[in-house]
Amino acid sequence: MANVAVVGAQWGDEGKGKVVDWLAERADVVVRFQGGHNAGHTLVVGENVYKLSLLPSGIVRGTPSVIGNGVVLDPWALRDEVERLGEQGVEATPDTLRIADTCALILPFHRDLDGLREDASGAGKIGTTRRGIGPAYEDKVGRRALRVCDLAHLDDLGPQLDRLCAHHDALRAGFGEAPIDRDRLLADLREIANFVLPFAKPVWRDLNAARSAGRRILFEGAQGVLLDVDHGTYPYVTSSNTIAGTAAGGSGLGPSAVGFVLGIAKAYTTRVGSGPFPTELDDETGERLGTRGREFGTVTGRKRRCGWFDAVLVRQSAAVSGITGIALTKLDVLDGFETISICTGYRLRGEELDYYPAHARDQAEVEPIYEVMEGWSGSTAGARSWADLPAQAIKYIRRVEELIRCPVALVSTSPEREDTILVRDPFAN
Ligand code: IMP
Repeated sequence: MANVAVVGAQWGDEGKGKVVDWLAERADVVVRFQGGHNAGHTLVVGENVYKLSLLPSGIVRGTPSVIGNGVVLDPWALRDEVERLGEQGVEATPDTLRIADTCALILPFHRDLDGLREDASGAGKIGTTRRGIGPAYEDKVGRRALRVCDLAHLDDLGPQLDRLCAHHDALRAGFGEAPIDRDRLLADLREIANFVLPFAKPVWRDLNAARSAGRRILFEGAQGVLLDVDHGTYPYVTSSNTIAGTAAGGSGLGPSAVGFVLGIAKAYTTRVGSGPFPTELDDETGERLGTRGREFGTVTGRKRRCGWFDAVLVRQSAAVSGITGIALTKLDVLDGFETISICTGYRLRGEELDYYPAHARDQAEVEPIYEVMEGWSGSTAGARSWADLPAQAIKYIRRVEELIRCPVALVSTSPEREDTILVRDPFAN
């Protein structure tokens, strides 16, 4: 029985929420292992729409859910999300939600710094979610961060807090901002600690015990491989490793705990924020993809940039993330297009490339080489088996598989949980 890691194979927003929710029915525990509340996962269950940013998607079904050590945790965002879900009838209790006591905290001055830097960057800005994700990871790696376990020792922070505040006060002074109000910070932390601490546990123990007992673990990735800080379109990336390899390190399990890696890819491509995007369509077709796909960010409401499927990028994601099978989502958005293009390679200054080069300038200058396929006039929306798909749509899926050198394990044909074609069960492999 394989444990399953779900990762985005593009720039995030591939529809991971629905697929994780669908898989969560058969999982014994769902674990988030990187990122923070920059993620936006939309789950549609009947009449109800749940929007999650920080909590693992399993929470909606009552599947035990874990926030692993690789996540950066904004405790106030946590409380807001738990309260919001509570109003929708979904309870997160210390029995159903556990948070690694080693998670680094996102504090209010991280959010300030994220925004100040973005505002000061003009055209060079990254287009972050302004939630303090990058600054919090910087402090973690810089060994200055406060962690969840520190919330139980707020009276003993002493030199640890001095170091953290000295670092940020210098940065804030550079932006003309007042120093951190330490009394207020401590008072706020004391108040929120009461909310967070009941959830805080050495979750690596629970996870290792679950593994030994043969329980099925579902690792829920956030963002996508092209936003990975090492493998993505640097510097236009997030500040964590989004590849499946992080599932182990970000939760406290060994690498062999991750079995099947399910990469989620849209049948076309989108991106929010700045950065290169070879197949971006700045025209009517791009608008049509955006409108049909309702491409607006879950977290920030920003309009997503849209373009054709880029097989080079997804092939690269599959390689660096060790993807076993792909879940192809939003196929129905392509319904009715007369022709559909797929990027099969790039041209860069007269040379052909079958991979995405590392340098930001090369990434911005590559020109996509397209293969044009006939579209289909029938509908794929709501299809639940191959027999429900127009022949040409099946041809498109088969061509995608060939080009990315990875089989399709699932096809998602609407936001509804059950509108899914299962080709290969990730948990059974
Ligand atoms: P940050 O993660 O807020 O630092 O933002 C860095 C980049 O990642 C920006 O381009 C964001 O738009 C992008 N990003 C972060 N989280 C997500 C997500 O969940 N979906 C899509 N893009 C994201």
